[in-house]
Amino acid sequence: MKLKEIYNLAIERGIEADFRGKDGIEKLLKKLKEKYEKMEEDQKEDFDVERLENPFSDTRILFGDPEKEIKKILTGIDIDGEEILLAKELSDIDLVLSHHPRGKALAGLDDVMQLQVDMLVQYGVPVTIAEGLLKKRIEEVSRGIAPINHNRPVDMAKILNIPYLCVHTPSDNLVARFLEEKLKKDNPQTLEELMKSLREVPEYKKAIQNGAGPRIFVGDEENRTGKIMLTEITGGTEGSAEIYEKLAQAGAGTVVGMHMSEKHREEAEKAHINVVIAGHMSSDSIGMNLFLDELEKKGIEIVPCSGLIRIKRI
Ligand SMILES: [Fe+2]
Ligand SMILES: [Fe+2]
Repeated sequence: MKLKEIYNLAIERGIEADFRGKDGIEKLLKKLKEKYEKMEEDQKEDFDVERLENPFSDTRILFGDPEKEIKKILTGIDIDGEEILLAKELSDIDLVLSHHPRGKALAGLDDVMQLQVDMLVQYGVPVTIAEGLLKKRIEEVSRGIAPINHNRPVDMAKILNIPYLCVHTPSDNLVARFLEEKLKKDNPQTLEELMKSLREVPEYKKAIQNGAGPRIFVGDEENRTGKIMLTEITGGTEGSAEIYEKLAQAGAGTVVGMHMSEKHREEAEKAHINVVIAGHMSSDSIGMNLFLDELEKKGIEIVPCSGLIRIKRI
């Protein structure tokens, strides 16, 4: 597969699994195109035209010829300088693939948080509340990532001439859908049953053995789950801490997430929402595995590293 084919496949799968739906994304891209066409020439020069085709600003080819044929990939949850050096050491790696964004994809992380608005609306939160709370939080995240030396590993990849790709929200969309289907099928009634259902997923099973398995952050095993919401799996990064009260009003009983800050946990507790944290590296691994399986099917060799728990479903 060519590098650009891998990149395009990630976008395609990400759109298919997106909470906004294919139509929603098409509308969004159309609106952006109209905005772009109205821009002055100097504004157009600075505009990232890839945004017109790719709705995930945290998923980008950071370095490398898109036409390059890829046979072997070193991939992990975080690919930084160390892993790029490792790729050089291994000598036959054609591409390094990171889940967490780096370079301009990290700088664009705040943009994908928009999808949280649609997700919250689907769970019954009024759109004005979702938009209002997210707007504030997106600005906070944008200011937070601004000082990061986000191009550091990209510079390294350029010097060592190793193609570099990151696939973030498309992969998180895949794990969100995966968990949605799994929980729908198992239909857990208590937190104990919910934990049992998660333990059946091999990535979580391995994470338990490594001391990082699913955990109840708020609530007790015997608590009833009520309505389960997967609001903290995809959408860039953690949303607003003020959302839990609104989620409770929208009927949430339990939130399942990948990770959660203490501030968010406290707010969820105050709102009487149970929280189950499935695990960060393990949940990110599920999304990446679903994507990597497709690459393996096409004959690409996968070398997992950097926290990626590689489980094949093919
Ligand atoms: Fe992720
Ligand atoms: Fe992550």
